[in-house]
Amino acid sequence: MKQQLPPGPKGKFFVGSLEEFQRNPLLFFRNLLEDYGEVAYFRFGPFQKVFLVSDPKLIKEVLVTKQRYFVKSRDLTMLKPIIGEGLLTSEKDHHLKQRRLIQPSFQQKHIGQYAQDMIDTTKAYLDRWEDGEERMITEDMMNITLGIISKTMFNMEFTKGYDIIGTPIENVMKLAIKRMRSILPSPLWIPTKTNRQYKKAIKELDSVLYSIIDQRRQSKVTSDDLLGVLMKARDENNRVGMTDKQLRDELMTIFLAGHETTANALSWTLYLLSQHQRVQKKLHKEVDRVIGNGELKPEHYKKLTYTQNIIHESLRLYPPAYMIGRQVDEDVPLGDYLLKKGDMVFISQYVMHRREDYFTHPDEFIPERFENSPPDSLPPYTYFPFGGGPRICIGNHFALMEAVLVLACIAQHYKVKLAPNHPEVKPQPLITLRPKGELRMVVEKRNIND
Ligand code: HEM
Repeated sequence: MKQQLPPGPKGKFFVGSLEEFQRNPLLFFRNLLEDYGEVAYFRFGPFQKVFLVSDPKLIKEVLVTKQRYFVKSRDLTMLKPIIGEGLLTSEKDHHLKQRRLIQPSFQQKHIGQYAQDMIDTTKAYLDRWEDGEERMITEDMMNITLGIISKTMFNMEFTKGYDIIGTPIENVMKLAIKRMRSILPSPLWIPTKTNRQYKKAIKELDSVLYSIIDQRRQSKVTSDDLLGVLMKARDENNRVGMTDKQLRDELMTIFLAGHETTANALSWTLYLLSQHQRVQKKLHKEVDRVIGNGELKPEHYKKLTYTQNIIHESLRLYPPAYMIGRQVDEDVPLGDYLLKKGDMVFISQYVMHRREDYFTHPDEFIPERFENSPPDSLPPYTYFPFGGGPRICIGNHFALMEAVLVLACIAQHYKVKLAPNHPEVKPQPLITLRPKGELRMVVEKRNIND
């Protein structure tokens, strides 16, 4: 029987809508919802059928109730040479088993232990900022979150962590993105120049990670950094821990998944604050009231409610994970349609978070909107910066706490302004949603009540 398809653009001969999607996925997705409704259909190339699902009830089916009919999309599986069978890329039983093993390390009671590291790392980094200086904020936020993940994961200080793991990861990621962007990447066993460089970079990274794991196994000292916690984790049924290969894959996954997203969230937040002085002033007021002249402490986190709403609102407008992709693994009905094995499904947080039927003045930055309707009180799958279901971001509490503490640290000591004559700031949707080009800001020292 012929598959009945939802409405959607015809696209170009042969390529379908691939070019339009690659040129600007945010605009493409928003137009699809507006022009064709909550389930839209398009093609990538002559054969690949793709569905954009923007109905919250159907999103829940894809991510939760019918999730077993789906696997991760091709883009993510392309990261497998780097992150192997870690949480982000593994599937089915292996994923479930690993998730159960790792989940406790990310529960709120463990995350709390990392708060002091988050504060210390940020403060040490901010010591480099001079009053009135123009800073490359995107780079600063990346360095801070990289410093935090190095410290919380391996108990390594920023510069050491960066030299040891940051540089090899950067090399690998540059080559991985190059491969992902090509329409037909050559299989890794073909010895093209890029493939050889890529394999060499992965090998270098592997040797770094295995030597960290090995040193830890050799030393008898137990540590409560994330590596220590993961090494102690035991399967609840057979009490078996992770092999070195599993540890390596999970460390790489958490390291990669755990810094760029939060760095982007912070860059967008500082940009939004620079454009909304009213909100920035209110943030300073809260920080002064809660922290006063003293030092920021982990226990302030819960009291910084306006700061938390600023982060929620920034994640609404510029969700670093702006879309979720899935591939149909087994034919499954979704709403009025039947999805066939091999079809692709996209869900876009960017599109959903800006729907005017769910958010008043959807394109405006209004942190107060979360005061009476906190994120978990909203209709399910209208606001979901961390995804949902069994594959919801494992680092969601970690990320929120990190973003709030870093922002509070900055706000306690600095005001931010966009640098003079700055070009228009636009989103660049790559693997994550980041500001296009550089984001430069002038940072001015402030005192309490200033
Ligand atoms: C603002 C920051 C962050 C955002 C917006 C974000 C967003 C997401 C989203 C949407 C997913 C689900 C992807 C899917 O279903 O296909 C995800 C998964 C994941 N995230 Fe995050 N994330 C953030 C920070 C972090 C941090 C700090 C860590 C670790 C320290 C982390 C680790 C992970 C891992 C391991 C997964 C895979 C989970 C699984 O499939 O079981 N993320 N993240």
